[in-house]
Order: sequence, then C-alpha cells, then structure tokens
Amino acid sequence: MPLLEIDNLRVTFSTADGDVNAVNGVSFDINQGETLAIVGESGSGKSQTAFAMMGLLAKNGRAAGAARFDGKDLLTMSNRDLNQIRAREMAMIFQDPMTSLNPYMRISDQMAEVLMLHKGMGKAAAINEATKMLDAVRIPDARARITMFPHEFSGGMRQRIMIAMALLCQPRLLIADEPTTALDVTVQAQIMQVLGDIRRDFGTAVILITHDLGVVAGFCDRTLVMYGGQIMEEGPTDDVFASPVHPYTSGLLKAVPRLDRADATLATIAGEPPDMSRLPAGCPFSPRCAQVLDNCRAERPVLATRGNRRRACHLPIKEVA
Ligand SMILES: Nc1ncnc2c1ncn2[C@@H]1O[C@H](COP(=O)(O)OP(=O)(O)O)[C@@H](O)[C@H]1O
Ligand code: SF4
Ligand SMILES: [Mg+2]
Repeated sequence: MPLLEIDNLRVTFSTADGDVNAVNGVSFDINQGETLAIVGESGSGKSQTAFAMMGLLAKNGRAAGAARFDGKDLLTMSNRDLNQIRAREMAMIFQDPMTSLNPYMRISDQMAEVLMLHKGMGKAAAINEATKMLDAVRIPDARARITMFPHEFSGGMRQRIMIAMALLCQPRLLIADEPTTALDVTVQAQIMQVLGDIRRDFGTAVILITHDLGVVAGFCDRTLVMYGGQIMEEGPTDDVFASPVHPYTSGLLKAVPRLDRADATLATIAGEPPDMSRLPAGCPFSPRCAQVLDNCRAERPVLATRGNRRRACHLPIKEVA
C-alpha cells in the first residue's frame, strides 16, 4: 500500500466572481521513503493540492475526491484524527519559516513544547532531543544556540530550524512547499542537502513542491508536472528531464539554466498561466502550446499511463519538441 494515495482530488474556491477550480482531478501515490517533486508555474495548483490533504484550505475552499494516508482518507476523517496525523506522521514546511516559528519564543522552548505535548517527554529530555535535531539539520553549535530567538538566525538557518521542528516527531511524510524559493543559490543548495540527509537518515518520504526545476534534479525520485490544476506528465525524474513527453514540460526544461548549455538558449514559455475560473474546454495548455493540434482546444487529453510514465497530451510522443 502506498504511504499516500491521492485519488481524483479537486479543490474549488467560491469567490464573488464564481468558482475557482484550483485542482482538477489530480491522482498520484507516494511510497514510504520516496521523494516526489511537484513542479509547475505559479498558480498551477501545487500548494492547494498539499493544503487540501493537510486540511489547510482557506475558508472559501472545498476539497473533493480522496487523499488516503496509510489507507485512511484525510478528507473525511474527524478533526481529532487529522490533528493526530498532522502532529506525528505528516509535516509541512513553507517558503517563509516565520509561518511556523514563534518570533517571541526561544527555539529551545518552542521545540521542547512540541515534544512534551506529542511525545510526553520531560523538558530536559525534550531539549536534548531538539538539540540532536538541530545537529541533524547542521545548525553549528546547536547546544549553545538553541536558546536563541528566531530573529537571531539568518534566513537559511531559520529554514533549517523549521525543518528540524517539522521532523521532531519523526513524521513519515514531509511536504516542503517552495522551501528554497526565498533563498540565494548557495543557501538553496545547502537546504536541499539537508533535505537529502533527512531522507537518508530518517527514511522520511518527501514531497517537494517547487516552480524551479533546477532544484529537483538529483534530489527527487519522481517528478510530477502540473498545469491548470491538472497533471500534465509524471515519471522518474531522470527520464522526465532527459526526454519530456509533454510540450509543457519540454518548455519548462528549456527555461532552466544549465551549465552545459549557453544561457542564450534560455526561453520562457510565451503567454500567461490560465485563469482558473475560466479554464479552456480542451487541453489547459492549448492557448500557449507551440505544437497545438486541431482537436486540442475542444478535447481534454486523458492522463494515460505507459510503463512508469504518465502524460496528458494529444500529440504523439515522438513529436514532442
Ligand atoms: N482562497 C482562495 N480563493 C480563491 N482562489 C484561490 C484561493 N487560494 C488559492 N486560489 C487560487 O488557486 C490557484 C492555485 O493556487 P496554488 O495552488 O497556490 O498555486 P501554486 O501552484 O503556485 O502553488 C490559483 O489560481 C490561486 O489564485
Ligand atoms: S494536448 Fe495539444 S495543446 Fe495540449 S500540450 Fe498536447 S499538443 Fe499541446
Ligand atoms: Mg504555491
């Protein structure tokens, strides 16, 4: 059984201008210890997919379908059961660490509080455990610095502390939503290294959500590409990068700076992401697709499985440029 099984997930927001269809029938699995990247431009429904399963949708949002963690549907379980799973089994980290850290509390107190509440530890044991976790995310001199306040750390260090907080109860799944987006390139690489260590040392499954394909390669086993709240393509990361089978993925990859290619060839995809309250009837990417076919605008391509790849596109695979 997969650790997490997302089944035809839909997220709809009610607004004064009508319904916003942010996630439109998304299905995927993640196994114990696996890393999955969810990539796509801003607004493609990546965060709302994660928020729906964490029970964190905004008040005007509703989720349909199923999100089974260990076989139990997160969307229909009681708040009490969901809180238990969120505290112990499934954690989420964000772009801005201050969404998870309390600026007025020492790191030692906020980390110890989590362990005392959820693991029933005494304060001394909890601080000891918290220090170990800060060591694991490579906070230098953690034993001395654990008594500091969040603002006394740099952005990259705060990001590490948030990761350590999220891992305190040794969750089986960590969802990282744009964890490196606000950081400079060197610090980004360090944070990805920390996430890699965590996965290796604790066997934590990781869903990495990012608009930046540059951070995915070399870290994630599988990559899932979203557009317009739908899955465009999915496959082993190396295969997706080496031979994309969808024009949207192909376009995204051409926009990633690479050392082996002159930056002059960098091309962004022309046009704007879709308005999620007025998605095209056919392929959501059709207004921007350079390879659009006659039937693309009218007929939505189904997400078809072929071996370990999935794709939703009318164009024959061989013709994807
Ligand atoms: N509370 C809300 N009300 C209406 N629309 C929303 C709300 N929250 C998010 N959306 C819309 O949902 C869509 C998907 O957003 P999101 O999942 O955050 O994208 P991203 O892929 O950048 O993470 C966007 O079009 C966004 O505007
Ligand atoms: S279905 Fe058509 S419009 Fe959509 S990506 Fe494929 S070729 Fe382009
Ligand atoms: Mg997002």
